[in-house]
Amino acid sequence: MRILVTGGAGYIGSHACVSLLETGNEVIVVDNLSNSKMESISRVEQITGKNIQFHKTDLLDASGLDGLFERTKPDAVIHFAGYKAVGESVAKPMMYYHNNITGTINLLESMKKHGVDTLIFSSSATVYGDADRVPITEDFPLKPYSPYGWTKFMIEQMLRDLHAANPNMSIVLLRYFNPVGAHPSGNIGEDPNGIPNNLFPYISQVLIGKRKKLHVFGNDYPTPDGTGVRDYIHVMDLVDGHVVALEKLHGKQGVFTYNLGTGIGYSVLDIVKAYEKASGKEVPYSFTERRSGDVAICYSDPSKAKAELSWETRRSLEDMCADSWKWQTQNPKGYE
Ligand code: NAD
Ligand code: UFG
Repeated sequence: MRILVTGGAGYIGSHACVSLLETGNEVIVVDNLSNSKMESISRVEQITGKNIQFHKTDLLDASGLDGLFERTKPDAVIHFAGYKAVGESVAKPMMYYHNNITGTINLLESMKKHGVDTLIFSSSATVYGDADRVPITEDFPLKPYSPYGWTKFMIEQMLRDLHAANPNMSIVLLRYFNPVGAHPSGNIGEDPNGIPNNLFPYISQVLIGKRKKLHVFGNDYPTPDGTGVRDYIHVMDLVDGHVVALEKLHGKQGVFTYNLGTGIGYSVLDIVKAYEKASGKEVPYSFTERRSGDVAICYSDPSKAKAELSWETRRSLEDMCADSWKWQTQNPKGYE
């Protein structure tokens, strides 16, 4: 298939391009490089030995996007492009609503005009907010708590409404838990700008000497060791979920929603220990205040994706830490 990948130069998008190319698809990337570098595309080409058709286009440029659909005629779209920092979305809500929602509306209008009916959308576990219990299944109430989370919620709703009016469409909503790690080659990975918000890149930057120590946000949560529990999923398992969804659901009418997680919760201190083992280095850390907006425990029930897509995660926490560390040590300055 010929797949148009929005945000394909970014962290998850670049890994998805590897899986898509390795399973025989043609890949067209649309990215404005607002949070990524062209180098990631070259690296994907090196890993796979295949070419990507890259277009530096902003989803907010409706006519540019439309021209691109006209020229490339994709069979399906995987939509990763968007802003994703929770804290920044609280400070700059309109920037988030504009980029994520208007960008998606432009994309959907181009798809409609050019008869493209299959879409896979990157949603997030953040749509569940502070869930009443774990593990979280897809039918849990949706109650996001940040503008970022609301953009995911609103786009999901928009897609359900769009499908109701156009029942021939095939729409897949994938709710990611905590994607981490990197391609096992260490050639592509997560390259955050400035101080990382997320645990894995923060730990790896402490270990290469870029940051002094890890600040563990809270040790008084109602969890076994008092630190926050999350469902970390290897980015290669996550992107394989997209390829399987595409293979199984392309052309199948409906809106299909799946959690992509492992179903296992690890605490911050579990991650510190696993990372120490993978790197052979000690992670200096201290406990600080809880981070505002953080929930105590969040992990998925991934059984729907297993039953309906025959997809399940294959990589362990050890793989996540080892691959994250390999990427960091091979690329201490990211893609620079
Ligand atoms: P990322 O920032 O690395 O990738 C997003 C890409 O989209 C970047 O390359 C950026 O340049 C591009 N982009 C942003 N706005 C654009 C626009 N208007 N036009 C064209 N390109 C644009 O983020 P990621 O971690 O790869 O996340 C991919 C998707 O998955 C996002 O939608 C994110 O919300 C979602 N998601 C991520 C996580 C996570 O923890 N990484 C968790 C849940 C959901
Ligand atoms: N943590 C620390 N110190 C740090 C960074 C994180 O102790 O420097 C802790 C957090 O408090 C949390 C855990 O590590 O307990 C994981 O935090 P991350 O920031 O890595 O991930 P989150 O679960 O907070 O956020 C992720 C995605 C968001 C998404 C959210 C909810 O990054 O995009 O899941 O699904 F909105």
